[in-house]
Amino acid sequence: MKNGIIVTIDGPSAAGKSSVARLLAKRLGFLYLDSGALYRAIGWKALKDGISIVDKKGIERICKKIRIDVKKMGDEFRIMADHMDITEEIRGPEVSRMASEISAYPAVRKGLLKLQQDIGRKGNVVIEGRDTGTVVFPEADIKFYLDADIKVRGERRWKELRSGGFDVDLNLTIREIEERDRKDQTRTIAPLMVPSDAIFINNTEKTLSDVADLMLKEIKNRTDYP
Ligand code: DC
Repeated sequence: MKNGIIVTIDGPSAAGKSSVARLLAKRLGFLYLDSGALYRAIGWKALKDGISIVDKKGIERICKKIRIDVKKMGDEFRIMADHMDITEEIRGPEVSRMASEISAYPAVRKGLLKLQQDIGRKGNVVIEGRDTGTVVFPEADIKFYLDADIKVRGERRWKELRSGGFDVDLNLTIREIEERDRKDQTRTIAPLMVPSDAIFINNTEKTLSDVADLMLKEIKNRTDYP
């Protein structure tokens, strides 16, 4: 049983899901759940413990043992792994690559599915990721799918990485995003796809605030949100 309203936002890498989900959650007074950060937490732990990408048993062990929490601090949500704040550390390209690989493992998806559902069903939530409207919350009150041109997405991610202190090349960033999209869309379990009942938004030429306004209008029209 769920309580409150569930809003899902799916889409490819660097489509602006996190920024808009965070803003929308703030305006609605809802919890913001970045499901990608959970996959990143597992990837981060595997890298930290020196577990190879092909060591399925090792990755499974991490899933069973790791404790992941989403902690609200002021207006922000921090990602905790075994009580350590890893919010910034999980943003780098190495963790991105690892998260994309391990997200195709059934044991990882199974463990994180329950965690997401347990958090989301407690109350009003905006959750974003790749399968939040198709697998995690097929019963969501309202679903969005956010996309933008690959060049715009690449530039956004590149700027974000540079401002986080990661010295990366723009063209390489674009190629890595394309590769991750391909993997996310073609994996057999919970692939990235547009939920049949989602509202599709292309934000190539829209500002963050335009997108949040548009979503807010749809939420007011289509859900019980007052
Ligand atoms: O959104 P992100 O870039 O932080 O996500 C990191 C990886 O996690 C991404 O390559 C795919 C995976 N992921 C997923 O498989 N399902 C989700 N709901 C969210 C992320």
